[in-house]
Amino acid sequence: MSRLDGKVALISGAARGIGGETARLMALAGAKVVVADMLDDRARQTVAAINEAGGQAEFVHLDVTKEADWLAAIAVATQKFGKLDILVNNAGVFIGKGIEEISLDEWDRLVAVNMTGVFLGTRLAAPALREAAKASEHGSAIVNLASIAGIVGSQLDPLYSMTKGGVTLFTKSAALEFARKGYRIRVNSIHPGVIQTDMGEQTFVSRARRAGTNDTAAIRQVVTDSVPWGRMGVPTDIAKGIVFLASDDAGYMTGSGLVVDGGMTAT
Ligand SMILES: NC(=O)c1ccc[n+]([C@@H]2O[C@H](COP(=O)([O-])OP(=O)(O)OC[C@H]3O[C@@H](n4cnc5c(N)ncnc54)[C@H](O)[C@@H]3O)[C@@H](O)[C@H]2O)c1
Repeated sequence: MSRLDGKVALISGAARGIGGETARLMALAGAKVVVADMLDDRARQTVAAINEAGGQAEFVHLDVTKEADWLAAIAVATQKFGKLDILVNNAGVFIGKGIEEISLDEWDRLVAVNMTGVFLGTRLAAPALREAAKASEHGSAIVNLASIAGIVGSQLDPLYSMTKGGVTLFTKSAALEFARKGYRIRVNSIHPGVIQTDMGEQTFVSRARRAGTNDTAAIRQVVTDSVPWGRMGVPTDIAKGIVFLASDDAGYMTGSGLVVDGGMTAT
């Protein structure tokens, strides 16, 4: 795995799932990690596990839709750990309803978390990332959690797909803007396939609902059979990709998307 010695990372939605595993792996790779989430108790458990294993992590409450929360989270990184080298815009929500079923409130929530959250994090962390980049040969890094649903259409949730498509192209545009301005902040996205997390479980429930059944075990098998590599993804599959994109090993990557999907979008 790539190393992150001496780096400081802020990860949104890091209480559990892909974000939680990313926090754990980043700490193992030598980074100091700010675990930011709305699930305070769960996030504190993630922090405790990292610190008990010999890593360095801090918890901060963050609702990615709130500007003041972002400023407080960035301050934890810069005041407790001295700087900010890495931002992972990981927090996200999935609704799992069709165009004719989703309510306007649900759509507003999707946009607020999946898009406004990424925009706010990028804008508000940029000054600290820019500052840290001055002392780093390969600059600072932002990694945005998009999805394969941000590259190809989603039969399950077209509105989620719209938000992740937005994250995909925002990543490229932010990379270009920061490069043009000479900020030395690399911006890349990662595109997971179906990953076994709480959100992954939500996708099985909505697939089952659409098929008119409660049998999520059968649905899980159908999904597994559809993955060319023959298994569903687990958080660590994605976290390893995030660590790479955040590390100096990806020092010439910006505006790119890393697809980690067991071959699902290769067909
Ligand atoms: N699981 C998958 O199959 C899959 C596939 C593609 C992309 N993704 C993306 O990966 C990312 C992580 O997903 P996951 O599968 O780990 O999901 P998850 O539901 O297990 O974790 C998401 C985390 O985000 C947090 N969160 C939600 N709203 C928030 C807010 N407003 N402010 C701060 N934190 C908030 C949650 O509390 C939770 O800890 C998401 O952006 C998701 O869209 C997941």
